[in-house]
Amino acid sequence: MDIREIVLLASAALLFLALLYRFCRRDRADLLSTCVIGVIGLGMQGLALLAVRGGMDMFAGVLTEAGVVATGIAFIRLTGLFAFRLLLPALRVQAPRILEDVVVVAGYVAWILVRLRYAGVNPGELVAASAVVTAIIAFSMQDTLGNILGGIALQLDDSIDIGDWVKTDDLTGIVIQVGWRSTSLRTRNGEIVVVPNGLLMKNRFLVLGREVHGRPQWRRWVWFDCPNDVPPAQVIGTVRTCLQSAAIADVSNHPAPDCLLMGFSNGVCQYAVRYWLTDLWRDDPTDSEIRQHVIAALRRAGIPLALPQYRLRTVAEGEAFDRAKQQRDHARRTAVLRGAELFTHLTGDEVETLADRLVYAPYAAGDVITRQGDTAHWLYLVSSGEAEVFIENGDGTRRQVNVLSAGSFFGEMALLTGAPRRATVIARSNVECYRLDKQSFADLLLARPAIAEEVSHILAERQHGLENVLQDRDADSRQLHVAQKHHETLAAIKRFFALDR
Ligand code: CMP
Repeated sequence: MDIREIVLLASAALLFLALLYRFCRRDRADLLSTCVIGVIGLGMQGLALLAVRGGMDMFAGVLTEAGVVATGIAFIRLTGLFAFRLLLPALRVQAPRILEDVVVVAGYVAWILVRLRYAGVNPGELVAASAVVTAIIAFSMQDTLGNILGGIALQLDDSIDIGDWVKTDDLTGIVIQVGWRSTSLRTRNGEIVVVPNGLLMKNRFLVLGREVHGRPQWRRWVWFDCPNDVPPAQVIGTVRTCLQSAAIADVSNHPAPDCLLMGFSNGVCQYAVRYWLTDLWRDDPTDSEIRQHVIAALRRAGIPLALPQYRLRTVAEGEAFDRAKQQRDHARRTAVLRGAELFTHLTGDEVETLADRLVYAPYAAGDVITRQGDTAHWLYLVSSGEAEVFIENGDGTRRQVNVLSAGSFFGEMALLTGAPRRATVIARSNVECYRLDKQSFADLLLARPAIAEEVSHILAERQHGLENVLQDRDADSRQLHVAQKHHETLAAIKRFFALDR
């Protein structure tokens, strides 16, 4: 290289540096690192001159070569920065960062190969020697390389450009950067979504509204319904005329908005306005404006929007229905009372009156119907299923006292004595009960002393049963107590006489 060429290159480098420093504030960090590499390269070459004077020719040769390579790399990088960050944007060309990187790296490789050839090394041999290492690296970095190659392929086949609107799965955004590993999209909600390039390569994605004649166009659909007794031609004509003559921001005139009949069901006709949106940021606001124009145009023409219509089958549940239901319920209660041993002596009228006071109370198997110790409010008549009566022991265990089936009653003890419930009653199976409130039970006993007598007999028997179970429990616990005492005494005697040694 002669002195003229060196001065030319140095002037170019200084010009790029000055322009980039002045106009690309955001790239000053890159500029600085490039300068550092350049200064190191020049410094090495300066050192090499000193080494030559000191007689270290070999060392000087290596230093010179390394310095030339570093200076060249700095110059290539600076040229790349100038071209991609200043020149192309000034010409309104938005090149993705990956393209800049690829071009600059290709420049580095070419420069290094040239220098290797100058130094007498055959680049072909070098490539063959490093093939195995390259294969190993490629294998271990499959995903990363996939993403990188994906990024390059996306650029080369021109499938994605910065500024394109892209839709993948449920996500739509504008491409703001295509990098080595990933492509960044900015959504309409202001989120940045980073999509690995490999994913874009493998999956289908939509590029929305790519520029046609210098501006983007994306077809949108806005739906509305009108009653089917309005002639569709009238609806279509009204809407079409309105939309084609109105000046609506971001709606293209070429092709102009259109209106079509898309279907009819449930007594309404479904129409769609199809229009071409020119600013993809404003999808919903423009749809909204179209809707406003449609509503106004239809109103002016006296055409209503349709309300959804459904065919309903209604069943009249009038007084007769209610009466029949009441009669059925009443008949069931009467049957329950007639089936109960306790009420066999009641006259037909008494049964009818009492039946009206019963309250239906179903229980699922395992439900606690009344609990020992609770305050009593109801007398229970079992109409189906089985209920178990238990005594709770206070330590979480319980003893069964009896099992009550259909036709039995319970809850009389606490109601008659005013004491808390004597036992717990639990549904053994699904149980259907009818409850009689305290006052109605009292009225019944007053009106029919025979029932009181009957109940008192049963109550006495039940109390006896309860006592027996309680005694058994006490006997058991007494036995347990005695056995325990015996054990303790025996142990004390053995200890005293030292019998267990
Ligand atoms: P009450 O004490 O109000 O609540 C628990 C009910 O269990 C009790 O009334 C009786 O109706 C019933 N009951 C108690 N002991 C027996 C028994 N031995 N046989 C049948 N039912 C009983």
